[in-house]
Amino acid sequence: MKYLLNLGGICVLLVISFTIFACSKDDDSTPEPPTPIIVSFDVIISQQNSLRVTVNNTSTGVNGLNSYWQFTENGPVVSDQAGPEMHLYDAAGEYLITLTVEAPDGDIQASEIVTVTDDNEMHPALKDATDKFSVGMAVQSNRMDGQHGDILVREFNNLTAEYEMKMNIMYPSEGNYDFTAADAIVDYGVTNDMDIHGHTLIWHNAIPDWVDNFSGTDQEFEDMIEDYITTVMTRYAGEVRSWDVVNEAIEDGSNQLRNSVFRQRMGDDYISKCYQFARNADPDALLFYNDYNLTFDVGKQAAMFDIVDDLASQNLIDGVGAQMHIDIFFPSSAQIQSVVDGTVSRGLKMHFAELDVRVNPNNDITSFTEARAIAQQNKVREVVEIYDAMPDVNKFAITIWGMRDTETWLIDFWGQPDWPLLYDVAFQPKRAHTGFLEALED
Ligand code: XIL
Repeated sequence: MKYLLNLGGICVLLVISFTIFACSKDDDSTPEPPTPIIVSFDVIISQQNSLRVTVNNTSTGVNGLNSYWQFTENGPVVSDQAGPEMHLYDAAGEYLITLTVEAPDGDIQASEIVTVTDDNEMHPALKDATDKFSVGMAVQSNRMDGQHGDILVREFNNLTAEYEMKMNIMYPSEGNYDFTAADAIVDYGVTNDMDIHGHTLIWHNAIPDWVDNFSGTDQEFEDMIEDYITTVMTRYAGEVRSWDVVNEAIEDGSNQLRNSVFRQRMGDDYISKCYQFARNADPDALLFYNDYNLTFDVGKQAAMFDIVDDLASQNLIDGVGAQMHIDIFFPSSAQIQSVVDGTVSRGLKMHFAELDVRVNPNNDITSFTEARAIAQQNKVREVVEIYDAMPDVNKFAITIWGMRDTETWLIDFWGQPDWPLLYDVAFQPKRAHTGFLEALED
């Protein structure tokens, strides 16, 4: 048996290993199997839901043999699927877990008693660490159940669709909306009493082909965009309470608007037109402008605040989303503070959106190291401390852009390994998670 304590001291990972060696019933008459049969398994008790156990069959010499799990004495047997098997108990208690392998000479079993509790030493939930702002997670409709669901429900009170509420998904062909995934995410959020942040209505990087190649006049294009914004926002009015209306409109390193199809078709004032459509569609929704590199790209930040000031003068904006795709080295706390200061001085809400903290921006490691884990913990703590220090009236949410390290969009985007999120592949909270909580400790 071994116990792994994380260094923050608040999470306990219990791993129980035990082994039973096979004994032949009749050593004289039974030929030795080619590989000795050793039946063994590990048990991990979830840190997010202490009633859930995950068992891993670590037996050897059992290739081709049937094996079964039994999670309670005399309970039903579950055939082993050759991978981690999860079981959720209904109530706290002591349970006998048995792994049975059908060996040629008869069944071989390994078993152990596990204790599951309702209140084992779980870390505090992120959402419970503050009542001044919500803690958000980017989700995909197929990652909301099982262990994803345990973590979502326990730790988060704000959801953003990672990609399924973008125009290319919701409006794949002219006149035909597809709200299947968006509905599932919104329903999930509503059912679980979470805020839902709509992301994103207008983004040059998620345009369906038919919009890029729109065959009508410019006026027809604008009417179509108004209809789209209205259709989507009225569908989710009262459920999706905030929206990124326009995302990433500004060119990198400049004060220029991207020459997107929206700008080409609707003119330089396309942004205020879209925010007006949005305000009309759902006057109660909070409207955000969202972009990346707003902390250190000085020209971009200035251009963003020009756009925001123009919208504010027409009462068309409520907040700024600063995408926090950052790394352990960069940007500095002063750079992060600068976008907060500009937002606060305008009396707007600040969303630290899309938080992920790369630990391998220079591609110099091939596995996650303790040193990088500590650097990431420190950076996350710094980001959350900056956020928490702003006046309460400006606070809105910090949203983390993905759950497990293996699920981050950044691995594809940069084409190199990284571990930028708060949970590891086994759904265990990392030091970065501890850093988030530390920032909010009294
Ligand atoms: C990314 C998602 O993470 C991916 O799953 C999707 O395929 C592409 O978009 N800026 C944004 C986000 O505003 O919507 C992007 O999300 C990441 C960059």
